[in-house]
Amino acid sequence: MPLQNTNPITTKAWQELEKHFLEIKNISMQEMFQEDNNRAEKFHIKWEDFLVDYSKNRINQSTINLLLDLANEVGLKDAIEYYFTGKKINKTEDRSVLHTALRANKNDIALVDGEDVISEIFEVKNKIKLFSENIINGNKKGFSGKSFTDIVNIGIGGSDLGPTMAVEALQFYKNHLNVHFISNIDGDHVAETIKKLNPETTLFVIVSKTFTTQETLTNSETIKDWFLKFATKEDIAKHFVAVSTNIKNATDFGIDNDNIFPMWDWVGGRFSLWSSVGLTISLAVGFDNFDKLLCGANKMDNHFRNTPFDKNTPIILALLSVWYNNFFGSESEAIIPYTQYLQKFAPYLQQAVMESNGKSVDRNGNRVNYQTGTIIWGEPGSNSQHAFFQLIHQGTKLIPTDFIGFIKPLYDDKEHHDMLMSNFFAQTEALLHGKTKAQVNTELEKQGLSKEKSDFLLPFKIFEGNKPTNTILIKVLTPETLGALIAMYEHKIFVQGVIWNIFSYDQWGVELGKQLASSILEEINTTNVKNHDASTSFLLGFFIKNSH
Ligand code: F6P
Repeated sequence: MPLQNTNPITTKAWQELEKHFLEIKNISMQEMFQEDNNRAEKFHIKWEDFLVDYSKNRINQSTINLLLDLANEVGLKDAIEYYFTGKKINKTEDRSVLHTALRANKNDIALVDGEDVISEIFEVKNKIKLFSENIINGNKKGFSGKSFTDIVNIGIGGSDLGPTMAVEALQFYKNHLNVHFISNIDGDHVAETIKKLNPETTLFVIVSKTFTTQETLTNSETIKDWFLKFATKEDIAKHFVAVSTNIKNATDFGIDNDNIFPMWDWVGGRFSLWSSVGLTISLAVGFDNFDKLLCGANKMDNHFRNTPFDKNTPIILALLSVWYNNFFGSESEAIIPYTQYLQKFAPYLQQAVMESNGKSVDRNGNRVNYQTGTIIWGEPGSNSQHAFFQLIHQGTKLIPTDFIGFIKPLYDDKEHHDMLMSNFFAQTEALLHGKTKAQVNTELEKQGLSKEKSDFLLPFKIFEGNKPTNTILIKVLTPETLGALIAMYEHKIFVQGVIWNIFSYDQWGVELGKQLASSILEEINTTNVKNHDASTSFLLGFFIKNSH
């Protein structure tokens, strides 16, 4: 069954939302809170170790009801079932979208073309488990008989961002292995990483779903050349493993068949950290922790699949995001985790969200006449407060922001954690209330400034407030809660793609640049600049002249 094909703006709910928007757009959240003291009670969801408070949004109960109507009108319930049961919802690539099967239980069923893939998934998980354990406990050794000390993940996009983010996020659970990531084709990055490595004790994990990606293949060849300065060709089998759907290309590269960890075309790159792409995560934190990550994601999958829409965290977050994107005209959303461990979470979500929903053609092949994918950005708090928060507080743009915080820190430093969390709560409160003219006046009076000076300063010190935030408060950062958090955002992406009537699981937009880069590379090599626009020809000419 294909996904329902409905232009969202033609739905009754959308038209009602447009009317409702006109009624509500000038009512401030401050007024909403004054009117209804029960907002936090009404607009929050408690689920497992998560508390999601969405009361600090420019909504009332009618907004939520209408957004839920919209979800129903576009056939979200059926769409969720198609997603989980392996229907080919990635139509432009004729594929199922089944990253959820990777974290399913042994006795679940996940069908691809009528075949249950669960046992295959568990075979690969077992291979990951055995391999990780043998590397971690030193049973598997390098070519000179020494145990491994360093792991290098070579991959880009989904073959890098997920593992990098998760290894960083789970640093507290890490073992003795040093983990490095090489993604960029930038040779300086490769050279800087190599400087830290001993070929005798380093394991290279080449991660590429297609095994055709220029960056990953070039970086792998460069690393292999470096490795062969110290070792023989036969030693490659001990030091290089691959994660790929393309067994032939991986074998041609010289990887031993036993060292190839398969993945499947029904797993999108940006949703692949749950597959063998997570091998580096399993090496870094041990298979048990990797499995707990999967388990947390599976719990979120069940919550998403089985909970009524009004108590369903990914659905509520997705609907709020549609509300701001399509009615308030917000262009971006900020993600602010109050933990340094999640410093790579926003970059990770950038690919997941923007590669998925950065589409302008609907499922009929027509150009959409409404906005789709949001721009995602962010950095951990409290750092970001001292960087870009000024614009969120007093700039001209409306930037809905997710605040992600944890009740307990991982090390027991209560003093630091309470300070961190006081910032967390203070920011959402400040964004809600702002600072009124009267408050600023009182403040200025207290400072005993002249009237002239006070009048001058007054407008600059007023904060409008009324800036929407979601507060996602989690008990503690563990592999399980991280898994659930990632899965929550994955499902938010899915819901938004369903509403916007777009295909979220292809990424044709990244192809053009790749094609042009390969012909430009040839022109650089031959110093023969062909037909380009005047700007590109001028720039290429300048580069060739000065670099050769
Ligand atoms: O940038 C496009 C893309 O195809 C991503 O979707 C993907 O995660 C990345 O390239 C890497 O691809 P591969 O794993 O095939 O090397």
